[in-house]
Amino acid sequence: MRASTPGPAPGSHLIDRYGRIATDLRVSLTDRCNLRCGYCMPPEGLPWLPSPTLLTDDEVIRLVRVAVERLGITEVRYTGGEPLLRPGLLKIVEATAALRPRPTICLTTNGIGLDRLAAPLAAAGLDRVNISLDTLDPERFYRLARRHRLPDVLAGITAAAEAGLNPVKLNAVLIRGINDDEAPALLEYALSHGYELRFIEQMPLDAQHSWRRDTMVTADEIVEMLSLHHRLEPDPTERGSAPAEMWLVDGGPQRVGIIGSVTRPFCGACDRTRLTADGQVRSCLFSRDESDLRTTLRNGASDEELAIAWRRAMWGKKAGHGIDDPSFLQPERPMSAIGG
Ligand code: 5AD
Ligand code: SF4
Repeated sequence: MRASTPGPAPGSHLIDRYGRIATDLRVSLTDRCNLRCGYCMPPEGLPWLPSPTLLTDDEVIRLVRVAVERLGITEVRYTGGEPLLRPGLLKIVEATAALRPRPTICLTTNGIGLDRLAAPLAAAGLDRVNISLDTLDPERFYRLARRHRLPDVLAGITAAAEAGLNPVKLNAVLIRGINDDEAPALLEYALSHGYELRFIEQMPLDAQHSWRRDTMVTADEIVEMLSLHHRLEPDPTERGSAPAEMWLVDGGPQRVGIIGSVTRPFCGACDRTRLTADGQVRSCLFSRDESDLRTTLRNGASDEELAIAWRRAMWGKKAGHGIDDPSFLQPERPMSAIGG
């Protein structure tokens, strides 16, 4: 009889039972946010995580160190909520940049406050940013995000480019009836400034559970809309584990990315592991279970014990998100408490 594989090999990297290896760690630094994007949070906000459950800066740094030194993590992305709201962000980035082998350090942000923070973050060792930009129209911005902050976001984008956080990547989610006609305008803006734009299909991760497949703007539709204005050809460069399908615009070299998270899932090539602001490992955005590293850490675990718990958490990663299964259930936490 063939021996079954009961779990990950001791000393291994973050491998799961389907053979995928996670090298990209996403760390949510807070579940709070200064926007209220409808696909993420209700207008009144959410009950925030109680502060004693939040990892301290030193705890975040320790877990990231374990991930880099013992688990083969080569890219660390800080997210939220809105990570710029985390007071210790600069210190955390600096400590991450001091790790060996030095990981690539990225930030996913809504851009508010980046006008002030882009230069110090770059100096601390931040390599790249992804900034959310769903519209260029202030009134639509208010409808989408419930705050009048578009000028702050645009100032943040400019500051990121000036600080050398290149290529600046912009993320856009299209919502039918609000900004679904804006794909070409967003692309013009990105191309004219040298930013790399990526459209992301809306996923069922909103706290209100109002996502519906039939209102989601699909990757196919986005390609169709952009093709009315530009010649799009698939970028021949290997996609690898990157979720965005890249398209050359008008022969290149400029590109646009389309992330068909729902209609073109890329779970088979997923290389991600996630840590929430309260110290839970999630093997997938859509996981319905989590592994509590915070308690393990606060109970005095050694680095190797933390690594063992993390390996065990990733071993259980599901094959795919299963959004199309009739039995699909949205995760209990919304996007703001998981990290994008
Ligand atoms: N579906 C798709 N993208 C989302 N984001 C937040 N919530 C959703 C969702 N439900 C995006 C944000 C940001 C990134 C972290 O993920 O716009 O760019
Ligand atoms: Fe904030 Fe990002 Fe959620 Fe928008 S999507 S409310 S910017 S955390």
